[in-house]
Amino acid sequence: MRLHVVDHPLVAHKLSTLRDERTDSPTFRRLTDELVTLLAYEATRDVRTEPVDITTPVAVTEGIRLSYPRPLVVPILRAGLGMLDGMTRLLPTAEVGFLGMVRNEETLEASTYATRMPDDLSGRQVYVLDPMLATGGTLVAAVRMLLERGATDVTAVVLLAAPEGVALMEKELAGTPVTVVTAALDQRLNEHGYIVPGLGDAGDRLYG
Ligand code: PRP
Repeated sequence: MRLHVVDHPLVAHKLSTLRDERTDSPTFRRLTDELVTLLAYEATRDVRTEPVDITTPVAVTEGIRLSYPRPLVVPILRAGLGMLDGMTRLLPTAEVGFLGMVRNEETLEASTYATRMPDDLSGRQVYVLDPMLATGGTLVAAVRMLLERGATDVTAVVLLAAPEGVALMEKELAGTPVTVVTAALDQRLNEHGYIVPGLGDAGDRLYG
């Protein structure tokens, strides 16, 4: 597993406003959308392409286009839905699958309540969207499921990651073609499984 913390002043600026408890829900949604577009630029650095001849008004030259099969983008409901538009703005031809997962507030165990995506992901590049990588239980389960369906490589785009979640992914997904792209790696988890300093409950701040 590879971790990529995006180091860019615009990312840090937007994330700082997202963290602020005074940021209201409409602003939080807009900033999440903007931030994801910046993260998507980094996350798609290895998107598969193929050469194509292009005729300009002046000459023929070689360009590129995205390869088939198309990438699959999978937001993890509920909070990941707030990241979908920002991602598909850069990958408008991507197919979109949906995964509904929720973390038990007491045990912090993740469970899946909805799955809507192709059964066969052989040869597919997949981008998973979830704002928070906390204990890592949600993303480990999601990525395992995508790899079991045949995904060739999986990139998780998150707004914030905790060291505990990164460590779990490194342990459970060692040797797999998985990348985590995040706007920041925070300090730790608190006793309730919240990222510190974090930004609170992303799902509640987006949709609560
Ligand atoms: C939050 C968050 C992640 C998960 C992270 O979702 O959006 O999906 O918890 O926690 P983990 O790394 O410890 O598994 P939540 O379960 O609150 O559901 P929601 O998106 O519907 O709010």
